[in-house]
Amino acid sequence: MAKIKKLGVITSGGDCGGLNAVITGAASMGLRHNIEVAIIPNGYAGLYNLHNLDLVIMDGARVDKIHSGVAGSEAGHSRVKISKIKDEQKYERIKSGLKKHNIDGLIIAGGDDTGSVVVDLYNNGIPCIHVPKTMDLDLQTYSVGGDSTINRIARFTDELRTTGLTHNRALVIEVFGRYAGHTAFRGGIGADADAILIPEVNVDYEILYQHFKKTYINRLLHSDVKGSTYIIVAAEGVKNKDGKYFTDDTSGVDSFGHQRLSGVGQYIRKQLEHYMKQDSDWKEVLQKEGIYVENIYTFPEIREVALGHLVRAGGTSAYDVAFGKQGGGAAVLLLLNDVAGVTVVGVEGNEIAYIPTAEAIKQRYVDLEEVSFYEQLGICFGRDINTYKPEFKQHIGKIHRYM
Ligand code: F6P
Repeated sequence: MAKIKKLGVITSGGDCGGLNAVITGAASMGLRHNIEVAIIPNGYAGLYNLHNLDLVIMDGARVDKIHSGVAGSEAGHSRVKISKIKDEQKYERIKSGLKKHNIDGLIIAGGDDTGSVVVDLYNNGIPCIHVPKTMDLDLQTYSVGGDSTINRIARFTDELRTTGLTHNRALVIEVFGRYAGHTAFRGGIGADADAILIPEVNVDYEILYQHFKKTYINRLLHSDVKGSTYIIVAAEGVKNKDGKYFTDDTSGVDSFGHQRLSGVGQYIRKQLEHYMKQDSDWKEVLQKEGIYVENIYTFPEIREVALGHLVRAGGTSAYDVAFGKQGGGAAVLLLLNDVAGVTVVGVEGNEIAYIPTAEAIKQRYVDLEEVSFYEQLGICFGRDINTYKPEFKQHIGKIHRYM
């Protein structure tokens, strides 16, 4: 067992649900083993400036003040990537900061960018454990925050349906997720969305339009109060038929080097309106249903709603509280047992599973076979429906527990 007396905990990247659970999990496991756990504030900015900071120690009373079920992080975040800092002595500076505070190792919660810094720090002789965290869910392991975001997307989408239905409007709900569609996909399914658009499937807007037209009109014809709607959940990184994504953000890349994505909801609305305005069927249908008003109401309206930071704010799902506590607690045990440079996969009984962080941070995308499965259930993904050829197999050994 390593002689560890004090650990630092860092949360980094975009915030989300479950981060406070990582902190309380690490601090509580630390208390159990007489190890002090200190918060290093504001992500890697705090780590770099450690020698100037006074740190808060997570003793029992301080831990008690943190509510694991609240999203965001008591430790604060910054979009600072150590590798981007132009200071050749940066790792020496970090090491001397750690030494000043007598910190023997680090527990770092974050996504792929954060994880790549964990790899760098470890290679520079700093013992650290990565707790997977990203609402984008695009790591090889489950990442804390994913489940909370999925549930929020499903809830907000469901709630928006009431206004869509009341005004007979189609709604395009744009959600975060960057280059992967995991949370749009799961959240959209959870909300019974009619269409789900994700970066993994290049969208043919004519196909989306035909699905919208058929579904909307069908709903209208079967409504005894002449109501209809159509719900699209779209990931911000949705791509066109030619594989290019849309963004109206001209501010360039963020400090991690990512293009900021925004505005795809409006873009999708305009695509649908383009096809709708050339389609003479609408007049007949709306007239027959008594909605048509010359020059005023000639087509159904479409509105876009960007959920933005709402999908990662507010509350944390119970699943993420439990997983976050596992991640924080397991990280302490791994460091105590001389394991470092790895990412926590989870706790199963007395087994603490982990993989090298360099492996864990490889991008993972939505499985297109699974997309085909949901296409069989009638959800449109903006492409021709693929045939789905199920294979049947009995699981022997470990059972996969989360998506
Ligand atoms: O990576 C998490 C994420 O929420 C992405 O889905 C999104 O594109 C980005 O962060 C938004 O970043 P910021 O909080 O810096 O606006």
